[in-house]
Order: sequence, then C-alpha cells, then structure tokens
Amino acid sequence: MSRTTRDILVTSALPYANGPIHLGHMLEYIQTDIWVRYQKVRGENCTYVCADDAHGAAIMLKAEQMGLTPEQQIANVQKEHERDFAGFHVEFDNFHSTHSDENRDLSTLIYERNRDKGYVVNREITQLFDPEKEMFLADRFVKGTCPKCDAEDQYGDNCEVCSATYAATELKNPHSTVSGATPIEKPTTQLFFDLPQFQSMLEEWTRSGTLQEGIANKLSEWLEAGLQQWDISREAPYFGFEIPDFPGKYFYVWLDAPIGYMASFKNLCDRREDLDFDHYWKKDSSTELYHFIGKDIINFHGLFWPAMLTGADFRTPTGIYAHGFVTVNGQKMSKSRGTFIKAETYLRHLNPEYLRYYYGVKLGNRIDDIDLNLEDFAQRVNSDLVNKLVNIASRCAGFIKKKFDNTLSSTVSAPDLLKEFQDAGDDIASFYENREFGQALRLIMSLADKANQYIDEEKPWVYIKDQEKQEQVKDTCSMGINLFRILMIYMKPILPIMASDAEAFLNISPLTWDDKDQPLLDHTVNKFKPLMQRVEMDKVNAMVEESKAEAAAAAKPVLDPNSPLAQEPIADEISFDDFVKIDLRIVKIIKAEHVKGANKLLQLTLDLGGEERNVFAGIKSAYKPEDLEGKLTVMVANLAPRKMKFGMSEGMVLAAGPGGDDLYVLSPDSGAVPGMRVK
Ligand code: MSP
Ligand code: ZN
Repeated sequence: MSRTTRDILVTSALPYANGPIHLGHMLEYIQTDIWVRYQKVRGENCTYVCADDAHGAAIMLKAEQMGLTPEQQIANVQKEHERDFAGFHVEFDNFHSTHSDENRDLSTLIYERNRDKGYVVNREITQLFDPEKEMFLADRFVKGTCPKCDAEDQYGDNCEVCSATYAATELKNPHSTVSGATPIEKPTTQLFFDLPQFQSMLEEWTRSGTLQEGIANKLSEWLEAGLQQWDISREAPYFGFEIPDFPGKYFYVWLDAPIGYMASFKNLCDRREDLDFDHYWKKDSSTELYHFIGKDIINFHGLFWPAMLTGADFRTPTGIYAHGFVTVNGQKMSKSRGTFIKAETYLRHLNPEYLRYYYGVKLGNRIDDIDLNLEDFAQRVNSDLVNKLVNIASRCAGFIKKKFDNTLSSTVSAPDLLKEFQDAGDDIASFYENREFGQALRLIMSLADKANQYIDEEKPWVYIKDQEKQEQVKDTCSMGINLFRILMIYMKPILPIMASDAEAFLNISPLTWDDKDQPLLDHTVNKFKPLMQRVEMDKVNAMVEESKAEAAAAAKPVLDPNSPLAQEPIADEISFDDFVKIDLRIVKIIKAEHVKGANKLLQLTLDLGGEERNVFAGIKSAYKPEDLEGKLTVMVANLAPRKMKFGMSEGMVLAAGPGGDDLYVLSPDSGAVPGMRVK
C-alpha cells in the first residue's frame, strides 16, 4: 500500500511580546503541538512555526515602563517564551519574531501588491491630536471615560471594565497620556484595506466546508452585517514597520502579525534544503496550511488574512482551528485567586505532561471554553496515567526481569486482544486528525482497562510460584508489555517524554504509528524505571499560593531606582503584637554634647517625663549640639541598653536621612509632651 506524504504547515497564534506565557496560552500551544506530533508520528511532512508578536503601542509602552528599548524588551520576552514552550515540550520547527527582516520584506510585498491592485485606499479621518506635543495620539496614548459604561481611566481603543470597543474620539473627558493635555480633533490621512471588495470571495471561502461550524457562523454574521474598510496605518510614535510610501506612518500590528507566520517559515526555509517557501505559499498550492487560534481572534484570521493573501496572490489557509478559553475551577483566570498561573510557575511545581494529558482529555474540535479544575486534574492524571497506563508496564516488567532475564516470549499469547489494540489505531488516528483528542484518549484508556483486565485474569503473581507455569507467566507479561507498547504509540503525541522513556525501557528506536503492527518477540528489554509520579495536591496548592504571591508583588508600583524605597525595600511584615513590643516615647533633648574621639556621635541627655536617659546618636554631621537642646523627639524607650566605647546607651532616638551620615531627628507636632507613648 503506497500513499503520498502530506506537506502540512501549521501555526499557533503569535504570543504578544509584552508579557509571560500563562496556562491559558498553553492550551493553544499544547493543542497544536499534539496535532503536529501526531502528524509527524504518522510520517507526514509536517512543519510547525510560530514567532513572538513584537509590534504595537502596548509593547512600546511596556518597554518604556521597564526602562528598556522595545528591541531589548522583545529580546528578553522571546527568551522567556521559548524557555516556557520548551518546558512544556512544545516543539516548534521555528520560533521567530515579527520584528524581523523577513517580516518587513513580506509585509512590504503584501502591502504593495494589494495597493497596486487598488485594495488599499487613502482616507481622511479625524484623529485625536496632542496640541502640546504636536503629535497624533495612537489609541493607547489617550485615556478617558468609557463612552459605554462611564468607567474612568480607560484607553482609547477599548474598555477594560465592560470590554466595549470604540474609537478614541468617542471617549469622554479624554486626555493625552503623553502630556496630560486635552486632545483636539484634527484631520489626517490614513490607509485603509478595502475589505468590502472581498465580500464575495470571503462568502465563498467561508462556505467552502473546511471551517469549523462555530467559526463559519461567526464569519457569516460579519459578512451579513456588511464588511468595513480596515485601518491599517498608525501614527508615530509606534513600534513597528514604517510604511514604505507613507513616511511617519506605521503598519498596524495586526497587518504584519499574521504575515509573521510566513516570515517565520521563510526564515526556516532559508536554513532547510528540503523546504521551499513558494511550494507552500503560492496560489493554488497543493500543500495544507492550518492556523490554530483562540476564539478571540477569529475575525483577523477568517476575514482580513484570507483577503490580504488573496489580494497579494498567495494561497489561503486550508483550515482555521479555533479553541475556547481556559477557565480555572469554573471561573475566569484570576490573579487574586492565584489561578492566573504562569507557565514558568507551573513548571516549578508540576510535570508538564500532566497538563498535556489533562488538556488532551478536555479538547475537542469545538470552540467551547475549557475548564481546568485542579482537583479533577490531579485525580484524572493519577487514575488514568499512573494507575492504568504505567501500571500495565510496571506490573509485568518485574517478572520479566527477575525470572526471564529481561527477555520477552517469542509467541503472542492473546492474538485477538493484540489485534483489537492494533485495529483501534484507525479510529484513534481519525480522532487525532479531527482534533477530537478527548475521544482518542477515552478509547486509549478503555484499551488500557482491557490490558489490565487481561493481566488480572492471567494472575502472573499467582502462577509465578508454580514451576510448571513459568512459560505461561512469561507469555502473559510479554503480552502485557506489547499492549503497553501499542498504547505508548497512541499516547506519543500527548506524552512525548514518557514515550521516549518507554522506548528506552523497551530498548527500541523511536516508535512510529505503523510499529503497532509488529509486536516485540524474543526481544530483550532494559531495566524498568518508574515512568510517572503521582500528582500531589500539595504541589498544586503550592503553585496556586505562589501565583497569588506573584500577582500581589507585580501589582506594586514600579519604583524610581533612586527612591529611598527602591534603595531600602520595606522589611518583612510584622504582626501588630510585634509592633506593640516597641515602646516609643516622646522625649525632650535637655543636653547635647560632642563626644571626644567620636566623629559621628553626639551624646544626648533625654527627659522622658520624669526619668532621664543617656543616649548616643549618630547625628553629628547634621546638627550643632546647641540647636538640638530643648527639642522634642521620639525614642525607643525599651531597647536593651548597649555598652558602647564611650559609655552606656540607654535607648535610641528616631531619625531618618538620605543615607550616609546625614540623619535628621523626628519631631512631634504640638500637643505631645515628654513621656507620652507613641502609637
Ligand atoms: N498576538 C496576538 C495573535 C497574533 S496571531 C497573528 C494574540 N496574542 S496573545 O498573546 O494575546 O494570545 C495568543 C493566543 O493565546 C491567542 O490565540 C489567544 O486566543 C490564546 N489565549 C490567550 N489567553 C487564553 C486563554 N485564557 N485561554 C485560551 N487561549 C488563550 O492574540
Ligand atoms: Zn466600559
């Protein structure tokens, strides 16, 4: 049976370079990676590319806030993103950046081709202008009151409270975040992509049958409502590509972002002999192109993107695969509840394959939201992976090692069962192909149940004691290991590390799908090592607690590095009980004198309201002694006396200064008299 290999190019949405990867993002990258690994284990020629989405005003502002150039900011974030994806075994063939030469060239090409065909139009619109700075204000540089819900302090593009989107000119009481001035409206020319010209092309494409029902419905709604021209230019300052024939204006981030898919692939083609860019992207290409995305960005991928590609004489996607959003414990991910969990934080506590499996169980090909219930997560992984799957191998491996020199039988003792496992491969394959991972896993786990039942019935732990039954035990355990091997082929897209550990145990080269048809006979395996630890709820809880703490720390304002707070951070929290242990009192300085031989200290005699104290204070450089006499200040009255070189110091006066020797004593407002307690 010969079949041709499919040439498939797959992408995940490009994560923004202004923040860390979290478990919501990971749903998409895990989903895509499973699908790609499935294609690869089936022997297809599948290539998976991604990149950071590096442009836009939000990234520029983030860089500014961090005190970095945008280039530094995106380089740092890209390192973190790549580290996190690798941590979850998401294996891109290439991970690039939209801020790249390839992307600049391709964006220019696609823009120019569309322009030359009349798909780009100039239009004069009014935009907000900062009269002090004399610049047009990008949406993100204007804040004001939301026109829909009256929430204050909202950006000029959308409201973070009610999620409404609007034009910056609709904001109430707008102000420029650059100068604080009230912006004025001023006419300006911008570039628009003339989407309405693609109405019939898009209607046809939407109904071509390759799109998910949910997506096709959404797109039809937009198409029926009538398409609008799309503003593809932005005013400086903006971090992006300057438009070649429109100096001072930049491509809107969403113009060059999807082109980033092509650019990442181009960058890979330049390094790989076997990949030809045009073969994949030319009009009417025979290759397949799939974009995995979240449901929030369907319009960009289902309308603008196929239209831009068509306008520039490139192929359109074969499919756009949208997924829903992740909720945790039934609710939106929340920083205060500790369920806004960063990929990095998860990886400090838990095995990435737990999450790959759990998302796999939950994933189908629809755009419903997906709940990560943390209790269910732990329970599911333990009962399916540890108690069922790994158990098959671990209960058989011991006997094979101890009694049979790690060598499997040369016969198949349950051929029907073996055949059932092999035949299930076609259904499992079609579930994977259709992104019904949950269904694939249910079928795989039902096979795992059958394997365990088989071993239960054959009772190797009983017969091993019977000298006459040794061969039977060997056959049973060999059979168990062969069944386990087939299941690991089916699990390989989801659990790549466990699969490679299983390959090491089985002493075989990397498994491919068709290996299911050839059982291991008369074959020597290696020592069995535990393939997966149980999920401990303690670790899950620790991850949530850490996420809470991280969110609280991140909510603190960014400090000027010169501020006293930045130089001397606030000490660890104490309880009120700790605080009241410190007895602070108002005192009067009745005498202040130089100390012979001391260059920082003054000797103070303090009146505590009937009791006198002798205190040495390091305030000499800020005061002449006589200026201090008669002043009220505050002392720690119950500090254990300290013997100093010059005498006994019986407490401490409170003073503050910029560091070094300059210290200034605190003085109370009127009304305070010596001896009063400060609280
Ligand atoms: N930069 C754009 C995509 C450009 S593609 C040419 C973007 N970036 S993003 O970082 O906000 O999101 C990246 C992907 O992660 C998107 O597909 C988005 O839908 C997905 N998710 C972000 N948060 C998510 C959840 N909470 N749950 C599931 N997916 C989520 O959008
Ligand atoms: Zn609002």
